[in-house]
Amino acid sequence: MKNPSIQVYPDKQAVGAQAALLFVEAARSAIEARGQFLVCLSGGSTPKVLFQILAQTPYRHQVDWEKTFVFWGDERSVPFDHPDNNAQMASENLLALVPVPDDQVFPMNGADDPKAGAEAYESTLRYFFKEDGPTFDLLLLGMGDDGHTASLFPGTSILSETEKWVDAVFVEKFDTWRISLTAPFIRRARNIQFLVTGDSKAPALLAVLEGPENITTYPSQLINKDNPNVLWLTDETAAARLSL
Ligand code: 6PG
Repeated sequence: MKNPSIQVYPDKQAVGAQAALLFVEAARSAIEARGQFLVCLSGGSTPKVLFQILAQTPYRHQVDWEKTFVFWGDERSVPFDHPDNNAQMASENLLALVPVPDDQVFPMNGADDPKAGAEAYESTLRYFFKEDGPTFDLLLLGMGDDGHTASLFPGTSILSETEKWVDAVFVEKFDTWRISLTAPFIRRARNIQFLVTGDSKAPALLAVLEGPENITTYPSQLINKDNPNVLWLTDETAAARLSL
C-alpha cells in the first residue's frame, strides 16, 4: 500500500508549489481554529522555492500575515546579514515581501554566544507554548545528504537531549556551532513537513524511511518514527530508491 505520508512530485518546483498550497491551508485552518498561525521555517536552500512562491500572487494574498507568527527550527552561528543565515534567506525571499508584523517574526541569534542564544530562544518559545501538548501549526524541515534535519547532525550530543526545547550544538563536520530545536520539541508540532529534493538525498532518504532504525546515523528518523503528523514532500530524484 502506498505510504500516504510520502508524496512525490516531478521536481523541486512542483514540491515548492505543493508546499505552498499546504502552507496556505495550514494557515487558514489554524487561524479559523485558534485565531493565529504559528509556523516554524526550515533552513538550507530547499525552502527558497517555497518562500518565493508564497511571496507571489495569488499565494501572498491567501495567508493572513497579520495573524502569522514565524519561528525557525535552527540557525547557523553567523549574523543575520550573512548569506548563510537561515532567517536572512527567508526574509529576503518572503518575509520582507509580505505584511507579517516585524514583532511576530522570531529569528534565532546564533552569531554571539550559541548557548545563550539557545536559552534566549527557549524563553521566547515558552511564552507561546505550554510544557506539554501541541506547538507549531506547521513546522518545515529539510534533510541533509547525511540524514540530518534542522541541526540534529549524526553523532552529536543534541540527539540525546530530552529536556531542553532548544540547544546549541557543535557540528564537527563543519567545525561550527549551530542552534537547533531538539527532537522532542520538534515532534510536538501539529504538522511536520519535510521538503527533500535532489538525487544527492536519495541514499539518506531510503535509509531514513526504509532502513533499520539507526537514529544516531540518520537523525531524521528521530522525527519520523511513530509520528502520524509527518508528511514528506519529495521530488522524483530524491525518492528514486524508495519502494513506493
Ligand atoms: C540548515 C537546515 C538543514 C537543512 C538541510 C538541507 O540550517 O542547513 O536547517 O537542516 O534543512 O541541511 O539543506 P538543503 O535544503 O540546502 O539541501
